[in-house]
Amino acid sequence: MTLGVNIDHIATLREARAIYEPDPLEAVFIAKNAGAGQITLHLREDKRHIHDSDVKRIVQSSPLPVNIESALDEKIIDYLCALKPQRITLVPEKREEVTTEGGLDIESHYDSIRDTLKAFESAGIASALFIDPKKESIFLARELGADAVELHTGRYANLCLMAYSNLSRTHRCIKDMNLPLQEQVKEIEKCLMELRECANLATSSIDTRSLKCFAGHGLNYQNVAQIASIPHITELNIGHSIIARAVFVGLERAIIQMREAMCLK
Ligand code: PXP
Repeated sequence: MTLGVNIDHIATLREARAIYEPDPLEAVFIAKNAGAGQITLHLREDKRHIHDSDVKRIVQSSPLPVNIESALDEKIIDYLCALKPQRITLVPEKREEVTTEGGLDIESHYDSIRDTLKAFESAGIASALFIDPKKESIFLARELGADAVELHTGRYANLCLMAYSNLSRTHRCIKDMNLPLQEQVKEIEKCLMELRECANLATSSIDTRSLKCFAGHGLNYQNVAQIASIPHITELNIGHSIIARAVFVGLERAIIQMREAMCLK
């Protein structure tokens, strides 16, 4: 199991003051020392945190494999293909969202995804598709010849927050998940079942192609163990909760503690 540390929010903090610090590149070396297996960045179309120059410096200097998240944006994809990170993960993007809210709608963007995956293959870059844990999406990802899928754990994570944190008593309460605890627990179990089934399906060799299976979004120190223990999921990409804890304990300790929460030695 690999921990991919998403360092977007180091850049979010830098952008709050619009100067040069904290530098996301410095985070890469701290992450390596703390036992991270990969660095993940999202080069958003609006460049709200990570900028082109961050990606360039990080891809050129990182001692860890670099996984870049990108929307189906021709200009960004061309830029990334020229830089050749180890992997590009295609994600949906909406300008107004705070974070990536759902998985890719593969059916609606089938041709465009197919062409983009071909471009990655020609550039020698591994590919992943960020999808909701739905069987139809796994079948489409296999058909398209992606190398991997990353399963969106956002619904599971939000239900855990509503069931086990104080979120429901704050202005961030998620109204359609504000259910009695027993029902929230049932929904959490349902999410875990879907994630397990999708991980199984993605990695099984029912035809010649099997996919690698990763997961991420909203994972934190409290909810990660159940996802980390799902067979066939071999990588978790985690950002917000690690950077949030790093504010208090430092980035190195925050990553070490996340590895412990994932039961990694
Ligand atoms: N995986 C993907 C594809 C994402 O888009 C994100 C958010 O940028 C993450 C993982 C990390 O999510 P979080 O910051 O909630 O840990």
